[in-house]
Amino acid sequence: MPSSVSISLVILVWTTTVITHVGGANTSTVAKSQSSSLHQEAEALNRTEWWWWRQYEESTSSPCKWGGIVCNDGGSVTKINLDSTSTIWHENAQLRDFNFSSFPNLVRFKLAGMRLSGSIPPEIGSVSKLTHLNLSGNFLSGELPLSLAKLTQLVVLDISFNQMRGPIPIQLGNLRSLVELYLGENYFSGTIPSTLGLLTCLTHLDLHSNKINGTIPSEIYNLKNLKALRLDKNNLFGPISSKIRNLTNLTLLSLFSNKINSPIPLEIGEMRELRHLDLHDSGLTGSIPSTLGLLTCLTHLDLHSNQISGTIPSGIYNLKNLMKPDRKKNCSHFGN
Ligand SMILES: *[C@@H]1O[C@H](CO)[C@@H](O)[C@H](O)[C@H]1NC(C)=O
Ligand SMILES: *[C@@H]1O[C@H](CO)[C@@H](O)[C@H](O)[C@H]1NC(C)=O
Ligand SMILES: *[C@@H]1O[C@H](CO)[C@@H](O)[C@H](O)[C@H]1NC(C)=O
Ligand SMILES: *[C@@H]1O[C@H](CO)[C@@H](O)[C@H](O)[C@H]1NC(C)=O
Ligand SMILES: *[C@@H]1O[C@H](CO)[C@@H](O)[C@H](O)[C@H]1NC(C)=O
Ligand SMILES: *[C@@H]1O[C@H](CO)[C@@H](O)[C@H](O)[C@H]1NC(C)=O
Ligand SMILES: *[C@@H]1O[C@H](CO)[C@@H](O)[C@H](O)[C@H]1NC(C)=O
Ligand SMILES: *[C@@H]1O[C@H](CO)[C@@H](O)[C@H](O)[C@H]1NC(C)=O
Repeated sequence: MPSSVSISLVILVWTTTVITHVGGANTSTVAKSQSSSLHQEAEALNRTEWWWWRQYEESTSSPCKWGGIVCNDGGSVTKINLDSTSTIWHENAQLRDFNFSSFPNLVRFKLAGMRLSGSIPPEIGSVSKLTHLNLSGNFLSGELPLSLAKLTQLVVLDISFNQMRGPIPIQLGNLRSLVELYLGENYFSGTIPSTLGLLTCLTHLDLHSNKINGTIPSEIYNLKNLKALRLDKNNLFGPISSKIRNLTNLTLLSLFSNKINSPIPLEIGEMRELRHLDLHDSGLTGSIPSTLGLLTCLTHLDLHSNQISGTIPSGIYNLKNLMKPDRKKNCSHFGN
């Protein structure tokens, strides 16, 4: 059918012409704005002086070739990945030297273990495509900027091992894509905001070693995908709600060194995936529930330094994985 072939050919040629024409008319505008935004990125990176040794060696090379920087095909920065293994570092590096507004395509930003000091500037909220933010292991201080709540694409947020203080903002409840949230080893105070219960994708929630008080809000028990919950070393009060039974995927529960001052709930026996249960030094009262013997995946159980009385339920002796973690049967992998 030659006529139909020629018709499609005509259509194809026509479409191509239109596209070429439109593209051609605006090519210079696009190219100009692209190169000026790339220039802004290069200038912003240069101004940090974090890569000063690189700049000294080859000041004309594109930053896309500098250590820890990844760009897209258009030469725009998409990832910045620096940690303590990333060679030399500027002595008094601060996040305020980084112009967050200059990186429209940044999706991953990791500056971990880099001796960063100072606060987290509110401008961080302008990197709207960010999915991974890791600022762990620095000397960052001050409060979490509320603008963090604008980073709605965030999947992983790690600000652990710093010197942050103040409350955990209720606005973090906006970060509905979060899967992992780590704020441990800081000086955060106040209570756990109930809005964290809105983060239903969370698999890892870690607020350990802070100065958080109050009870665990019941909304936390809505986080059905949680695999690891670390709230140890805070000033949290009990009781532990029976709703904890809803966290059926939990493999790690660490609440030690708090002020729970109430019994272990019987319902804990329904959390069949638990591998690691640490409730030591928490003022636990009452007796050890016999249901604990149902947690056949347990490899780590620590209840020492509590006010627990009574006898050890015989079911505990059936927990064969406690001493032989390598022989676990039908237990999901720890923390995964
Ligand atoms: C080119 O872009 C400008 C603004 O970016 C727009 O106003 C104009 O209509 C475009 N031209 C064509 C031919 O699409
Ligand atoms: C980078 O910054 C230094 C000063 O810190 C300056 O001398 C140099 O010209 C800058 N390079 C570029 C490419 O902007
Ligand atoms: C940061 O970058 C933006 C956009 O590139 C620019 O408009 C602004 O002036 C820069 N701010 C500073 C303090 O350099
Ligand atoms: C953040 O970076 C540190 C240091 O490289 C690493 O140990 C940690 O696992 C990272 N956090 C996340 C959530 O990947
Ligand atoms: C909880 O901590 C805050 C400060 O972070 C304090 O003002 C409040 O009194 C504490 N509440 C209790 C019951 O200890
Ligand atoms: C816990 O699970 C039960 C039944 O599976 C359900 O009725 C209840 O609403 C759940 N509670 C929460 C807080 O999700
Ligand atoms: C629990 O884990 C299983 C297997 O990893 C997964 O299919 C399921 O969606 C998770 N969430 C809940 C609430 O069971
Ligand atoms: C493990 O699971 C399989 C199938 O799901 C089952 O046949 C087997 O009996 C289970 N083994 C133990 C020790 O529970």
